[in-house]
Amino acid sequence: MPRTLTLANQKGGVAKTTDTINLAGALNEMGEDVLIVDLDPQGNLTDGVGLDAAYTEEPPSLYDAMVDPEGHDLASLAYSHEEFDVVPANIDMFNLASELTTAMRGHEALRRLLADIEGYDTVLVDSPPSLGILTDNALLGTENVVLPVLAEDTSIRALKLLSNQIDTLEQEFDVTIPERAVVVSRLEYPLDGEEKEMLGWFEDTYGDVLPVVEIRKRVAIKRAYNDGVSIFAHDEDCDQEAAFLELADVLREVAE
Ligand SMILES: Nc1ncnc2c1ncn2[C@@H]1O[C@H](COP(=O)(O)OP(=O)(O)OP(=O)(O)O)[C@@H](O)[C@H]1O
Ligand SMILES: [Mg+2]
Repeated sequence: MPRTLTLANQKGGVAKTTDTINLAGALNEMGEDVLIVDLDPQGNLTDGVGLDAAYTEEPPSLYDAMVDPEGHDLASLAYSHEEFDVVPANIDMFNLASELTTAMRGHEALRRLLADIEGYDTVLVDSPPSLGILTDNALLGTENVVLPVLAEDTSIRALKLLSNQIDTLEQEFDVTIPERAVVVSRLEYPLDGEEKEMLGWFEDTYGDVLPVVEIRKRVAIKRAYNDGVSIFAHDEDCDQEAAFLELADVLREVAE
């Protein structure tokens, strides 16, 4: 069984997608076979790894598989990328949340699809910026969550709301969904007062129980994304490779 992890935060633009791609790149660098599932109907990750054509491809797509998990095989929807495989999002997925809301076991569609996945060391799920049934599917399907956050004071509220939602799912579905790491993303040094205060808050709140990994703001990260690869496969050096390797390393330790 592969290790399965969701990068989740309902707050938009906190680097969920960018961190997913670069974490996958780091795991690949360590010799792992990685599958990414793009569960965000916006399809940013799909576009960001050069699969924009797949986003508008005819059925069957991830949409069809989520609506009818028994009738589909997730692995057959995967595209190969030079670093990892990707199950792309599809434009049909804008209707997916409402379909799942009325479906039998609509919260467990991804879990059922992932139950049959083999041949990968790690599966990463990129989730949408909302606390709805798609993020619920990602959390229940992977039973491990990584928290990308920005060093902004609104992150406190976002993390509390996400944590409440995880508690609710744990109770309702009788599972545990441990938080595995906090990834403080897009940090720009020198830090301003708010950023310093927030880094302190992340350390105080999570430091004793979770790894807190810092990812700096780098234009090289954006350029790699624009070229459809992680920083590891990009033809430009980026000093954040070490940070993503550290994240990959701690996740390999804790999230078996
Ligand atoms: N370390 C970084 N350095 C520079 N830019 C970054 C970094 N991480 C993310 N970004 C940029 O920040 C923006 C938001 O990142 P991203 O799309 O990954 O966030 P997201 O949480 O997935 O957003 P959404 O909530 O819309 O899904 C993007 O423009 C991305 O290129
Ligand atoms: Mg995203």
